[in-house]
Amino acid sequence: MERLEQLIEEARAAFAAVDQPAALENEKARFLGKSGSITGLLKGLGKLAPQEKRVQGARINAAKEAIERLLAERRAQIAEAELNARLAQESIDVTLPGRKRGAGGIHPVIRTWMRVEKIFGSIGFDVADGPEIETDWFNFTALNNPPNHPARSMQDTFYVDINGTDGLPLNLRTHTSPMQVRYARVHRPPIKVIAPGRTYRVDSDATHSPMFHQVEGLWIDEDVSFADLKGVYTDFLRRFFESDDLQVRFRPSFFPFTEPSAEIDMMFTSGPNKGKWLEISGAGQVHPTVVRNFGLDPEQYIGFAFGSGLERLTMLRYGVDDLRLFFEGDLRFLSQFN
Ligand code: FA5
Ligand code: MG
Repeated sequence: MERLEQLIEEARAAFAAVDQPAALENEKARFLGKSGSITGLLKGLGKLAPQEKRVQGARINAAKEAIERLLAERRAQIAEAELNARLAQESIDVTLPGRKRGAGGIHPVIRTWMRVEKIFGSIGFDVADGPEIETDWFNFTALNNPPNHPARSMQDTFYVDINGTDGLPLNLRTHTSPMQVRYARVHRPPIKVIAPGRTYRVDSDATHSPMFHQVEGLWIDEDVSFADLKGVYTDFLRRFFESDDLQVRFRPSFFPFTEPSAEIDMMFTSGPNKGKWLEISGAGQVHPTVVRNFGLDPEQYIGFAFGSGLERLTMLRYGVDDLRLFFEGDLRFLSQFN
C-alpha cells in the first residue's frame, strides 16, 4: 500500500524533472515499461492467493492509472511549453509591406482615345459611335469607291459570311469613314463630329495591326476649307503632344472620297525611331459625290474629313517603335503608361 503511494510520488517527481518529450518517455519506461516497477508488481500477483490477488490487483491497477494520468498531464504541459516557445520565436514582422492586389490601369491607346475626345470636344465636335460590322455600301460605295477598287479585295478586307441590306457581303469596317455618311445622313449642317473606334484590315507588321483604332473627323458647313483642315488638325496635334514645336507634313495623296487629298506624317522625337517619319492620318476636302450621299447639295455644302490612327499617335507620343506591343498584354510594357 505504502509502496504504491510512494511509486506515484516518485513518478510525479520524475516526470516534473524532465522538460523534453524523449526524456519523459524514458521516465515512463521506468514505471510502466516492460521491466518497470508497476509491471514488476503486476507480475508478482501470480504468487498470491486468489482473494489477495484481487485486492492487490485492483490497487496496483489504480496506481498504474494514476501514473498514466500524471504522464498525460506532463506530456500536455511539455507540448504547450514547446508551442509557446516557438510562437515567441516566430513573431510576425509587422513592418513588412503587405501583398496588395495590383491596381488596374488605362491602356495607352484608350488614353489616346480619351485625349482625342477631350480636345475635339473642347472645340465643339460631337462624338459618334457606329457599327464595326459594316455594309459594302457604307464602307465603300457611299464613299465613292469604284466597284473594282483594290481596297475591296479579299487581301485587304475581312468579309463576313452574311449579306447586308444592300445584298452584298458584310465586312469588318476597314476604316471609320463610313461614320461620315451615317452621321451626316441624320444631322443637319453645320456638321462637326469625330467618330473613334475599332477598324480591321488584313495587315500585320511593326506599324500595322489586323485590328486597330481610328478616329474619323468631319466638319461640313457652307465655307469650310482645306486651310481650316490644316489649322484645326495642327492645333489638335499641338494640344495632343503638348508642344508647339512639331515636325508635321501634309503629303499629297489620293482617296476616292476626298479631293484634294493628303496624308499627314509626323516625325518621332524620341525612342528608337527618333528622326523617322510616320504616317498618322489620311485627310482631305470631302468629294462632291460623298456630300451628295450625305443627302446634301455639294454646291452649297463643303468641308473636310480626316481619319487618324490612334496606335500611331500613341507610338509617337511615347516613342514606341512596334505597335504590336499594344496588343500583347505584357504588363511590363503596359504598366509604364500608368
Ligand atoms: C483611311 O483609312 C482613310 N479612311 C482616311 C481618311 C479619312 C482620308 C477621311 C480622307 C478623309 P489610311 O488607309 O491611310 O486612310 O488609314 C488612315 C490611318 O490609319 C493611317 O494613316 C494609319 O495611321 C492608320 N492605319 C491604317 N492601317 C493601319 C493598320 N493596319 N494598323 C494600324 N494603323 C493603321
Ligand atoms: Mg494611308
